[in-house]
Amino acid sequence: MAKEKFYITTPIYYPSDKLHIGHSYCTVATDTMARYKRLRGYDVMFLTGTDEHGQKIERIANGQGMTPKEYTDKIVVGIKELWKTLCISYDKFIRTTDDYHIKIVQKIFKQLYDQGDIYKSSYEGWYCTPCESFFTEHQLVDGKCPDCGRDVELLKEESYFFRLSKYQDRIIQYMEENPEFLQPNTRQNEMINNFLKPGLEDLAVSRTSFKWGVPVEFDPGHIVYVWVDALSNYITALGYGTDDDSLFQKYWPADVHVVGKEIVRFHAIIWPAMLMALNLPLPKKIFGHGWLVINGGKMSKSVGNVVDPNVLVNKYGVDAIRYFLLREIAFGQDGNFSNEALIQRINSDLANDLGNLVSRTVGMIEKYFGGTLPAEHAATDFDEELKAVALSTTEKVETAMEKMFFSDALIEIWNLVRRTNKYIDETQPWILCKDESKQAELANALYHVAESIRIISVLIEPFMPNTPEKIRKQFFIENGEATSWDSTKTWGILPVTLKVQKGETLFPRIDMKKELEELEAAIKASQATSIANQQKAAQEQKAEEPETPAEITIDDFCKVQLKVGEVLESKEVEGSKKLLRNVIKIGDEERVIFSGIKDAYAPGALVGKRVVVAYNLKPRKMMGEMSYGMILCAEDGDGKLSILTTDDPTFRSGSDIS
Ligand code: MSP
Repeated sequence: MAKEKFYITTPIYYPSDKLHIGHSYCTVATDTMARYKRLRGYDVMFLTGTDEHGQKIERIANGQGMTPKEYTDKIVVGIKELWKTLCISYDKFIRTTDDYHIKIVQKIFKQLYDQGDIYKSSYEGWYCTPCESFFTEHQLVDGKCPDCGRDVELLKEESYFFRLSKYQDRIIQYMEENPEFLQPNTRQNEMINNFLKPGLEDLAVSRTSFKWGVPVEFDPGHIVYVWVDALSNYITALGYGTDDDSLFQKYWPADVHVVGKEIVRFHAIIWPAMLMALNLPLPKKIFGHGWLVINGGKMSKSVGNVVDPNVLVNKYGVDAIRYFLLREIAFGQDGNFSNEALIQRINSDLANDLGNLVSRTVGMIEKYFGGTLPAEHAATDFDEELKAVALSTTEKVETAMEKMFFSDALIEIWNLVRRTNKYIDETQPWILCKDESKQAELANALYHVAESIRIISVLIEPFMPNTPEKIRKQFFIENGEATSWDSTKTWGILPVTLKVQKGETLFPRIDMKKELEELEAAIKASQATSIANQQKAAQEQKAEEPETPAEITIDDFCKVQLKVGEVLESKEVEGSKKLLRNVIKIGDEERVIFSGIKDAYAPGALVGKRVVVAYNLKPRKMMGEMSYGMILCAEDGDGKLSILTTDDPTFRSGSDIS
């Protein structure tokens, strides 16, 4: 019988020189799910890759004196190495710079244009380059990106638009009819109430102000919006739209897209709308996991608080790190990363509970029976309870894994680990060994522990790719019948005359105090290198930028109409830290002009002063009200502002500046 398929994806990562433990979290979780499904006999396709286009990458590469492709080629090598270190068992790695991907993105764009789902217009609004996201004025928070809090840029360019609004009702209906589609459930309510119900606007899906992207084939000045390019990866990777689309036929729709919570919006709204427009089935599930945070804030390169997974893996091994990430944080919620919590988990769950269970069991079989159990076993009073716990664990793990509740699955497995340790305490082999007549009971007790360890070694396999092998070697367990998933539901698979041989310590205990100092120093050193690299890149980027803007002609300059104005009012703006709302008298006219000068001028301080106003600037909405023009200021190198004024403080308002 053909195996059932399972298609799972991670987001494709922006090529950054430092993917941190937060990025690794997402990939490790996805890998664990992929390994679990393989172990359960599914035909798994696990896709990951890199999202290499867009203005952000173009700017970074320029800053480093490279072409964007040279830059991403270099970074991708490091990303693949990191995934190897973390034992990420992806089946395919897609790069959005791959030819086959580019071709199909162009084809998708053309198809949507031909069928009227994409149309040409012009875009005016705000853009956050780090998030590669468009925002309307009222979506900004304090004039900044609502997602990352960084500066946004005002864009005004000719653009193609995707009719996102057309799909709004269908997406709402789909979500309501398929409550499993977006997980955890709270994310679905968030999408419906915050984005879908208030109404979707058509989405600008092409850019003209830079070059690094997939060119729109029929209008080469335009490149495809990076999110449309990126989301398509989930189908282009399977050969969608090509002569050989057998993988697409086999694996699509995806069983689950695993994504971080801040990009759920793109996956739960834009992606379904694109698929609806292409007449393709939607993914079965989108799981929006939470963030790894440090002291309450998101771990991020720009904050400088990132933890390098290589440092942790070098110190404690990949299995310990994978275990920690998935056990410590409930998938779907944010979770704090701390060095103490990591060491604590390694010491208690891994060294004490699991490591100790294995080493004392092997040690006792060696000590009491020279490494091989005798054939004669006799039951103890405690056997049935251990067996019952062991044989009921798998089902609980399966239930948790189907929901991607990794932490719950590990809790169930560790209940069995602890129950097995308790069984040793109950049967007291160190007492039985002293009594000749109890040798069969002793053999039976150690056999029970070994069987339980065998089951545990299978259940932890998706989470910890290396530990099961290390355990099995010590019990001479061959891969096969005794290590299949279903074998965890059967008791008594190991031979009664079980042999053992002591192996390496699975998880050495860590001296918390000493290690914390060392670990903090190692993390700080890697953060310092990362910050130094960023500063170097920023300096190089600055060096690339021309010192003075390009020259303009007098005709260009004369297009700007400057006038003298008198400040009548200068008041605070509710909800804004920087803005003042000024009323300026210019001749007979009174204008409202918002100005980001509150750091330099207290409310009211400018009243009565003459200011220079850029008079014919296109009005724009700020904080819900139109602003007509701009007050000119000088800015020193530290960002301090000082208004431009006339030498004669009584100069008539409305005068032209020439
Ligand atoms: N390129 C887009 C995804 C396009 S998918 C069609 C992108 N890339 S990213 O590199 O910025 O982020 C990749 C993933 O890493 C996201 O799911 C994001 O949530 C995750 N994480 C980045 N920092 C994280 C934490 N601190 N904690 C948990 N996950 C985090 O977004």
